Amino acid sequence: SARVVVLISGTGSNMAALLDAASDPAYGATIAAVGADREGTQGITRAAEAGVPTFVTPFSAYADRSRWNAALAERLAEYRPDLVVSAGFMRILGPEVLSAYLVINIHPALLPAFPGAHAVRDALAYGVRVTGATVHFVDEGVDTGPVIEQVVVRVEPDDDVASLHERIKQVERAMLVDVVGRLAREDWTLENRRVRWGAAGARSRAG
Ligand code: GAR
Repeated sequence: SARVVVLISGTGSNMAALLDAASDPAYGATIAAVGADREGTQGITRAAEAGVPTFVTPFSAYADRSRWNAALAERLAEYRPDLVVSAGFMRILGPEVLSAYLVINIHPALLPAFPGAHAVRDALAYGVRVTGATVHFVDEGVDTGPVIEQVVVRVEPDDDVASLHERIKQVERAMLVDVVGRLAREDWTLENRRVRWGAAGARSRAG
């Protein structure tokens, strides 16, 4: 089974959906640990209650971004992840982490539209009629890595940020669970920013 570490910054509902899915051995992935960038998150409490190892590498405890990234990479190493999932993790990962681990992220918009920390607010302010969510590989840019999967959500005339984000969260969880399971179970390759599933001579599974 592929070893997955989930990184969170808050509620952790995507993480909780992954935990649920991973309780079935046929899923192909095991949640080895859940980590956060700050103390006191609801997600860490939830993971601990579920009996999953947790850790916190507080961003504020390090002199700069590079030292924090190095500390995070060290913590990750303890859990030997085949895949790191950034799920509501509101930090930019640097080469210290990205050179060592395969990392994916879930983003609440249809990238390349509305990258960054306020995707739902920005989509609503722009006035788009459809938005959605994206699962992508993480590279050193902000939400710029290759897209793995996307799902569309319509914007309703009376939506506010909370109502739109809630509908996005309903569908993004299912997509994230699906993608993590596929990366764990299937052979795949990445070519010209496209994921090819079950490709012959495949690079590898995530695990
Ligand atoms: C999710 O909607 C995720 O897409 C978003 O934060 C939320 C976390 O919810 N991520 C970003 O905005 C990343 N820029 P959760 O903690 O309940 O999973």
